[in-house]
Amino acid sequence: MTSPSQTRLTEEPSWQRLQEHYEQVKDLHLRDLFAQDATRGETLTATAGDLYVDYSKHRVTSETLGLLLDLARARGVAEQFEAMVSGQRINTTEGRAVLHTALRAPRDAVVEVGGTDVVPEVHEVLDRMSAFAESVRSGEHTGHTGSPIKAVVNIGIGGSDLGPAMAYEALLPFSRRDISFSFVSNIDGADIAEVLRGLDAASTLFIISSKTFTTLETLTNAHTARDWLVSQLGSDEAVAKHFVAVSTNAEEVAKFGIDTANMFGFWDWVGGRYSFPSAIGLSLMLSIGPDQFRELLAGMHEIDEHVRTTPLERNVPVLLGLIGLWYRDFFGAQTQAVLPYSQYLDRLADYLQQLDMESNGKSVTKSGERVDYQTGPIVWGTPGTNGQHAYYQLIHQGTTLIPADFIGLARPAEEVGEHQDLLMANYFAQPEALAFGKTAEQLREEGVAEELVPHRTFEGNRPTTSILLPELTPRTLGQLIATYEHKVFTQGAVWGINSFDQWGVELGKVLAKRIAPELTAESDAELGHDSSTNALIRRYRSLRGR
Ligand code: F6P
Repeated sequence: MTSPSQTRLTEEPSWQRLQEHYEQVKDLHLRDLFAQDATRGETLTATAGDLYVDYSKHRVTSETLGLLLDLARARGVAEQFEAMVSGQRINTTEGRAVLHTALRAPRDAVVEVGGTDVVPEVHEVLDRMSAFAESVRSGEHTGHTGSPIKAVVNIGIGGSDLGPAMAYEALLPFSRRDISFSFVSNIDGADIAEVLRGLDAASTLFIISSKTFTTLETLTNAHTARDWLVSQLGSDEAVAKHFVAVSTNAEEVAKFGIDTANMFGFWDWVGGRYSFPSAIGLSLMLSIGPDQFRELLAGMHEIDEHVRTTPLERNVPVLLGLIGLWYRDFFGAQTQAVLPYSQYLDRLADYLQQLDMESNGKSVTKSGERVDYQTGPIVWGTPGTNGQHAYYQLIHQGTTLIPADFIGLARPAEEVGEHQDLLMANYFAQPEALAFGKTAEQLREEGVAEELVPHRTFEGNRPTTSILLPELTPRTLGQLIATYEHKVFTQGAVWGINSFDQWGVELGKVLAKRIAPELTAESDAELGHDSSTNALIRRYRSLRGR
């Protein structure tokens, strides 16, 4: 197995050179960088698939980029990528391969895990999903009483929810509008109650999506949905026509009462947050149809190939990863904003939060040593222009440096009057204002009163990436998501952390399991937590009349 560099990251010569370089360039202003090089806005750009990526409004010189690329080489980013896509067990703490790229490999590709080619199984499941999706969409698959399916409810959480929910929203213009789609994730009963309220059981299909099929939130919601369906339709037998499962755990699926003939499988080498191109995307396939789903996979595959075959200096996910790391580790930026100028990308930041923060929210290296540098950033954002009228003030004039990704489209799904050009005028204006700002001299020339000058000055020098897509289609969405997946990979590879486990979510789960019976027990005498948790539980019990 290819192992990453054994040298401590902070002892890598290229890291140390970056540190010295940072001291020299940290005060350089984007105004000066653009003034020195009139072609900067064209040269510091790259393409990947249909994505045009402008990274010229970053606080980097050609030397910065060269040093960052040296660091990527020293850390073996390309070799680590190759190890991942060739099926090596790079998720060392769980002893697993990491092969979401195999989910979008063409039929004739060969990807082996432990000597077995996984591509035929991937396509077998895709074919079964396609046949099922067609039968539901055509009305051939009916409910227990013979009604065609008019409502699909995906029950899952984390990676078993966010990917399909985000992509369903993003691709609404491609969706069947005569079937409704809902996504239930929260264990708060309000989530499922509000969804069930408007549904007709006879025409509702539930997809229970859970890699492990042991997740408390999902199983609780699934049992509630099952009880509701049986009580509405008056028979346990109805479950067979109204419930399908997506999981890697056939045993638990059968225990729940879903026939494994109605189960779509995937594999332990697909991480939850990387799983929506697997059977976890079944709800999405039902909404956009199998052909468009395959377009999405094709878009992702294009980016997988781009990463594998493009030299690092033009490799978009690698560049984005390195630039993000430059701000995180050298400028100390704590967050990364993602600002799509498309309402359809409303859930993108939610999705990217899990992708990035569950992957790179780690503080030990693969070999278990505490890191002495920063790792994953806090990822957040909402669609523009709503954010402009809420929190952009802080991005423009606050004291915190916030690198931001601006994502825009040329052709909207629907042209509504002048909306698109007005939206995109904002998409272009904001990064310009953030980079170049407005100086006190300019304000004075405009005759602004002296006492207002400090308030109306924009320092500028706030870094942004502009990502421009021709349009939002299954293919371009696939390209965009795979770009972010491999950006996160690049950063994890340089940091030397395991981007594919998530032990950090375990402790809370274990404690919740212990606390649940304490909330309903006869007496609170046995509570053995800290004094704060004990007091909170006692107060809750008394408010519940226990
Ligand atoms: O939050 C932890 C996690 O394990 C995620 O990684 C995963 O996507 C989610 O829970 C749901 O898990 P499952 O698909 O097994 O229900």
